[in-house]
Amino acid sequence: MKIIARWQSKSEEETQKRGEELAKKFFHPGDLVIVAGELGVGKTQLVKGIARGLGIEEEIKSPSFSLVNEYKKGDFTLYHLDFYRLEKEEEVIDLGWEEYQEDEKGIVIVEWGDKFSSLFPPPFFWVHLSYGGEEIRYIEVFCYDSCSG
Ligand SMILES: Nc1ncnc2c1ncn2[C@@H]1O[C@H](COP(=O)(O)OP(=O)(O)O)[C@@H](O)[C@H]1O
Ligand SMILES: [Mg+2]
Repeated sequence: MKIIARWQSKSEEETQKRGEELAKKFFHPGDLVIVAGELGVGKTQLVKGIARGLGIEEEIKSPSFSLVNEYKKGDFTLYHLDFYRLEKEEEVIDLGWEEYQEDEKGIVIVEWGDKFSSLFPPPFFWVHLSYGGEEIRYIEVFCYDSCSG
C-alpha cells in the first residue's frame, strides 16, 4: 500500500478538479477504484471529476438508487457503482460487479466499496474522503499493488 496523493479541498469544484487530476495521472483501463467516506462527504462529486478526466461528457448521477450507472465513450466504459444500500455480500455478487471487472477496457468505481472490501482482491486504488470544517474536505489516495502513474 502506498499513498499517492493527499489534498485539502475547499469546494465542490475543487474536489471535482482533484478527481479529474487523478483520472489523468493514474487511472487506466481495467482499474478498480474504491471510494470511501461518510454520506455527503463528496464521493459523487469526486467521481464527476474522474469521469470528466476520462473523457465522459454525459452528466454523472449518483448511483445510490440505481446501484450501477454505465457511461460509454467508444469502447471504453465507466462503471459507477454505489454499495450504500447493500447489506450482504450476496447482494454485491448478484449485482454482477465481477462482470464489470472483467471488462479490461473499462474502469470500475465503487462508492462505499469499503463495506465489502474482502470481495476486492488488489490491485485497486482506494480514495478516502473525510470532513474538515464547513466545506473543507480531506482527500487521500492510496494504491494497493498498482502504483504506476
Ligand atoms: N469541498 C467539497 N467537496 C465536495 N463536496 C462538497 C464540498 N463542500 C461542500 N460539498 C457539498 O457536499 C455534498 C457532497 O455530495 P456527494 O458528492 O453526493 O456526497 P457522497 O457521494 O459522498 O454522499 C454536495 O452537496 C456538495 O456541494
Ligand atoms: Mg454518492
